[in-house]
Amino acid sequence: MIRSVSHVATMSPYALAQLNAPEGKLLISLAQNESLRPPSPYAIKAAAKALEEAHLYPDPEWKKLRAILSDIHKVPEESILCGSGSMQLIRVLAQAYSDEQNAVLAPAHAYPFFQTAAQMARARFDIAAEENGQVSIDALARAIRPDTRIVFVANPGNPTGTRIPRAELVRLRECLPQDVLLVIDEAYGEFADHLSESMFDLVQRGDTVVLRTFSKAYGLAGMRVGWGVFPCKIAAEVRKVMTPNNISLAGQAAATAALTDQTYMRQTCDLTVASRDGFRDRLLEAGFDVPESYTNFVLIRMPNAEAARRVDQALRDNGLFLRPQGGAGLGNCLRATIGNTNDLDTAARLLERWIRKEKP
Ligand SMILES: Cc1ncc(COP(=O)(O)O)c(C=O)c1O
Repeated sequence: MIRSVSHVATMSPYALAQLNAPEGKLLISLAQNESLRPPSPYAIKAAAKALEEAHLYPDPEWKKLRAILSDIHKVPEESILCGSGSMQLIRVLAQAYSDEQNAVLAPAHAYPFFQTAAQMARARFDIAAEENGQVSIDALARAIRPDTRIVFVANPGNPTGTRIPRAELVRLRECLPQDVLLVIDEAYGEFADHLSESMFDLVQRGDTVVLRTFSKAYGLAGMRVGWGVFPCKIAAEVRKVMTPNNISLAGQAAATAALTDQTYMRQTCDLTVASRDGFRDRLLEAGFDVPESYTNFVLIRMPNAEAARRVDQALRDNGLFLRPQGGAGLGNCLRATIGNTNDLDTAARLLERWIRKEKP
């Protein structure tokens, strides 16, 4: 009998969105925090052109991509690492810096892949309580144990959509022991860039990593390109466990070209924010509890898990898929990605209809 190793055998597969529309219904997915529009036309053209050289391996050093990232974000080129999605960077950080002798810590309602990455590394996964969907720096500090090796926080957070101010993150870093790696995952960072609270400078300390992705504001989720700013020593360790040639030729070309079109990316963020705020106002008006969001999605809080299950089923019956949040410890919540205007309007109409029927 062929057996997987024990930590794999006991692991559950990462919970992906379940997207199966009923017979005869058009599928509308607002379940994966994808962009509301395709990527910049420059990115599409560059990816198509890259296929002409697809018989060659891609650049294992991502030189063009790093050069332009360095220029835009004013971070040293050699401190940048690129991953096939920021998920890969999360995974290799956990693999390189934690194991069965120690622990990874994250807020209670954090991005569930932090836990999966810890499990893959065999590390214990600890959580710190949040306050009303807001990360608590004090609770994180209290949850640090002598064997804690990594603290993961997403800012803004998924699925909460809330944000940790820069001063609080600096306070967190200062109260963490020096041998604890802080990973700040800014997958939705572009949607909060207007607040001018960049965290990249913290990387110089040598104990902090900041991650970003092309999957959200740049609309390149299908290309699987993430990146991060790493202290050089940490970058060198992480590269040992990363698969070489990890980002396809087309992925690197698309991401590089997307960066040259900052106007398009900013416009995507503006469109998203305007739609998000309109959608949220509509749901608030209808009587839903929808916290303020700094991302390309909103969280819809239902009175209890049973109500969330019923509304989710009612939407699914109509071909509309939001994302239930039991996996992030929020069984009473559904998360809705800010999709295109038609899909959002359908979602708002179905939710309004549901709440009208439910109200006594
Ligand atoms: C907080 C957070 N981090 C990382 C990711 C993964 O992004 P990528 O597509 O770059 O792997 C996501 C995707 O939803 C996310 O929400």
